[in-house]
Amino acid sequence: MRVVALLWTVGFLLKEAQAWSFKNGIFHNSIWLEQAAGVYHRESRKGRYQLTYKEAKAVCKYEGGALATYEQLEAARQIGFHVCSAGWFDKGRVGYPIVKPGANCGFGKVGIIEYGYRLNKSEKWDVYCYNPNSKECGGVLTDQQKIIQSPGFPAEYQDEQICSWHIRVRLGQRIHLHFLEFDVEDDTSCLADYLEVYDSYDDVSGFAGRFCGDYLPDDIISTGNVMTLKFLSDASITAGGFQLQYTAVNASHKDFLH
Ligand SMILES: *[C@@H]1O[C@H](CO)[C@@H](O)[C@H](O)[C@H]1NC(C)=O
Ligand SMILES: *[C@@H]1O[C@H](CO)[C@@H](O)[C@H](O)[C@H]1NC(C)=O
Repeated sequence: MRVVALLWTVGFLLKEAQAWSFKNGIFHNSIWLEQAAGVYHRESRKGRYQLTYKEAKAVCKYEGGALATYEQLEAARQIGFHVCSAGWFDKGRVGYPIVKPGANCGFGKVGIIEYGYRLNKSEKWDVYCYNPNSKECGGVLTDQQKIIQSPGFPAEYQDEQICSWHIRVRLGQRIHLHFLEFDVEDDTSCLADYLEVYDSYDDVSGFAGRFCGDYLPDDIISTGNVMTLKFLSDASITAGGFQLQYTAVNASHKDFLH
């Protein structure tokens, strides 16, 4: 197993928490709600804005779905689906769903920000897919305790999986990850298949570790009440997969303050 450094500070999440709403004991942050009403966002494995229209369609089809229609995207937006990346959707349109107005994304507007019907289908964007029956792979988790596992576990996971789990517990709590089983294709830098852990509600900031191989990673405890896990498998060689449990812990608990 290779582990990339785990370093983070407390201040960031406290600051972030103030920027978002707090309702019914749950910290609500609609940003990065990856999946809503069967709609989800995908980017190419090569990174952002790398998919032609044809490739975008293939990505959705591969996962058993189809390009989202405008109506599906809007329905998802209305329950909090907010993504700051332009993607293809049905009929060669490009746009992205914005819930929370911001200067840096969506020009301060709320709604589906549209670039319209693209005449040039070779342009490269991300994609919005629709699949109401998508497999158990990722999602937004708000339970106090839950098992997270690779798709199909205990069977081997499949090639070309991308799953993101966003964990959000009560404000003031932390998330304790405890690995139960771990077997992910091993390679020197964990570039083929891996599980990544982020001490934040997205997979941009708060990188806490990338894991592959077959040693059980150590427990990980978040600094705030949100965490993101991302599992990715490439086009070849799979393995047994992983299973872990998260538990919400009260942040004031002395054992976790070190
Ligand atoms: C269509 O878009 C691609 C990718 O951005 C670009 O390389 C190509 O020149 C464009 N074609 C036309 C006719 O504008
Ligand atoms: C955590 O805090 C909540 C509210 O402050 C309290 O009701 C609960 O009993 C605490 N749980 C533990 C395990 O200490």
